[in-house]
Amino acid sequence: MKRVGIIGTGSYLPEKVLSNFEMEKFLDTSDEWIMTRTGIRERRVAKASEAASDLAQVACKRALAAAGMTAEAIELIVMATITPDTHCPAGANWLEAKLGAKHAVSFDVTAACTGFIFALSVAEQYIKTGVYRNALVVASEIMTRTLDWTDRETCILWGDGAGAVVIAEVEDGKGILSTHLHSDGAGGDNLLMPGGGSKTTPISYKSVDKKLHTLNMIGANQSFKVAVKRFAEVCEEALAHNNVTLDDIKIIVPHQANLRILQGVAKRLDVPMDKIYVNIERYGNISSATVPIALDEAVKDGTIQPGDLVLLAAFGGGLTWGSSLIRW
Ligand code: UT7
Repeated sequence: MKRVGIIGTGSYLPEKVLSNFEMEKFLDTSDEWIMTRTGIRERRVAKASEAASDLAQVACKRALAAAGMTAEAIELIVMATITPDTHCPAGANWLEAKLGAKHAVSFDVTAACTGFIFALSVAEQYIKTGVYRNALVVASEIMTRTLDWTDRETCILWGDGAGAVVIAEVEDGKGILSTHLHSDGAGGDNLLMPGGGSKTTPISYKSVDKKLHTLNMIGANQSFKVAVKRFAEVCEEALAHNNVTLDDIKIIVPHQANLRILQGVAKRLDVPMDKIYVNIERYGNISSATVPIALDEAVKDGTIQPGDLVLLAAFGGGLTWGSSLIRW
């Protein structure tokens, strides 16, 4: 089996910033409440003309530049998203055309906030087994289109953005050392977008009036506790599998859902917060895109250096959770 690693990262955040203070103007909330309960100060909002593939396109171009590659050389594109441009064709198909990735095959993977780790794992299998030589793995979300802007418990959490990596064969001892994926369909109701699927289509005035097309987080409090537990478990699982300890890990790059979830994980794992990469203050929760965006920032700001052990971990709707341990 070939060893597969990340050879370039990139990300893109829409320009428009929506701060907590601006949200105070149309919502019964406060910067103080949002900061204290979530750690989020502002989030990005895509332009009306932008779809998920547009955000993904910029992130992918940046990842390709970092890898020193052209889109034409890419053989596989796997896009993680729960907010594709359209349900058919897949978001990845639109992206493939926009990139001019003429020699690539493309498809989407859906695993909510854990989507990037699932997509990375899917793409890795094809390269490991020699089917393709390289892949673009991208996560792109326009979460602000899914929100009920009168639901203060939900709409303050989310934002838009995209992150991408190029993966290819790397030298032995480097690259993805392990991946662990989990799901529990019985917890599906906790984080739910009820409308738009075969259960509620065709879209009707009735379903729109009931706001079935918006993100529903009735189980948010419940999923908060589960998230802390699963995050910690999946980190410990990766460490045990690779026979390493937290001291060996340079940085944990987690899904950014709530700063308090990450503080809970740090406490459970008994590590200082500086072992965990946090950028939620600036972007909020961008579902599957948080992990590759944070990874790109950690590479660009020098947190991650060649040879470092990096642990990606995520938890989200599905329920889904997973980890990937990488020797950089
Ligand atoms: O990415 C996938 C994983 N994501 C998750 O699993 C989400 C995890 N859950 C969370 O992040 C948190 O549960 C929330 C941020 C959603 C909520 O935080 P909380 O500390 O659990 O607050 P709460 O729901 O217990 O609400 C406390 C109070 C309530 O008022 P009462 O009943 O105590 O009078 C809410 O009505 O805060 C009120 N509240 C707000 N107040 C001001 C809820 N939202 C707001 C708001 N502004 N935006």
